[in-house]
Amino acid sequence: MILKIAVLSGDGIGPEVTKQSIKVLKSLGKKFNHKIELESGLVGAVAIDKYNDPYPDETHQVCLNSDAILFGAIGDPKYDNDPKAKVRPEQGLLKMRKKLGLYANLRPTKVFESLLEMSPIKEERISGTDILFVRELTGGIYFGERGRKDNDNFAFDTCEYNRDEIIRIAKIGFEYAQKRSSKLCCVDKANVLEVSRFWRETVSDLHNKNFSSQELSHMLADNAAMQLVIDPNQFDVILASNLFGDILSDIAATLTGSIGMLPSASLNEKNVGMYEPCHGSAPDIAGKYLANPLAMILSLSMAFRYSLNLDSLADELDKAVRCLISNGARTKDIANESTFLKTSEVAKELIEILK
Ligand code: IPM
Ligand code: MG
Repeated sequence: MILKIAVLSGDGIGPEVTKQSIKVLKSLGKKFNHKIELESGLVGAVAIDKYNDPYPDETHQVCLNSDAILFGAIGDPKYDNDPKAKVRPEQGLLKMRKKLGLYANLRPTKVFESLLEMSPIKEERISGTDILFVRELTGGIYFGERGRKDNDNFAFDTCEYNRDEIIRIAKIGFEYAQKRSSKLCCVDKANVLEVSRFWRETVSDLHNKNFSSQELSHMLADNAAMQLVIDPNQFDVILASNLFGDILSDIAATLTGSIGMLPSASLNEKNVGMYEPCHGSAPDIAGKYLANPLAMILSLSMAFRYSLNLDSLADELDKAVRCLISNGARTKDIANESTFLKTSEVAKELIEILK
């Protein structure tokens, strides 16, 4: 098979972790006789530097020509500290999500039993946790009307959803729940927000109509934040709008011990997906060989599964990562001792296991 992969390394630790995932991809391609065609594109701060646009048309074309997109990270402190900056790296990610129609964001949050001691909560609470976040990614307050008025004395962002947007993401939630424990928890703030009441109503209607054999529950987002910390094992699939999904998936990620291990997939109607580690650009450790490449490598595994129809490769890669971790391979973020592996050493060990 020919695998056409777009490589958008981005900023900070993005390039170093992406590089390792490409090594793994090439090694698997060789082993299973797939021809890998890579094409790279600029995104984020590096794209602003060159094109004054964090997601230029050139990059969009590269994405359109690919079967799957590997995305490193974006963000640069020089923009974070400047509230007046006209263009920001993050706008590139939002523009990309919108232009490619990547409305379904999957964030599997599964703990590695050999890393339980890294969790900030008690081992017995986190042990066994395996949650799939299904986050709506192209609507809500991220994309509603926003602006300033009254001579710059007033600012607003609007949370907007139409019925179809809710139904299509809820369907994804129910479909994945069906493949797991058939339990879906829909998170909102229906006690305050009209949009949330609309979510509840729409998701419940869909449940009654098409997915009534599954268990649907609703939970307020603030309670969900608390419940995730107290008893993460009560959840299986969590369905959330854009902003709640953003926040809650970070809470859950932290519970697993390191955000450096968690992958994500963002899918559109055609399952052309963008695969991205949940961590950000981590500028403080960029270029120091400290980054954990496993979130990016596990994102590659999601690309095999969701865009490339290569489930067996995904299984093989997931298994190899588990083996690597139980063998004790650790980057700094998951190391308890002062000795740890460099970014590239982790990939090298993983490739040995895969061979
Ligand atoms: C994420 C990130 C992005 C988001 C930022 C970088 C725009 O936090 O993917 O979770 O808020 O969606
Ligand atoms: Mg986030």
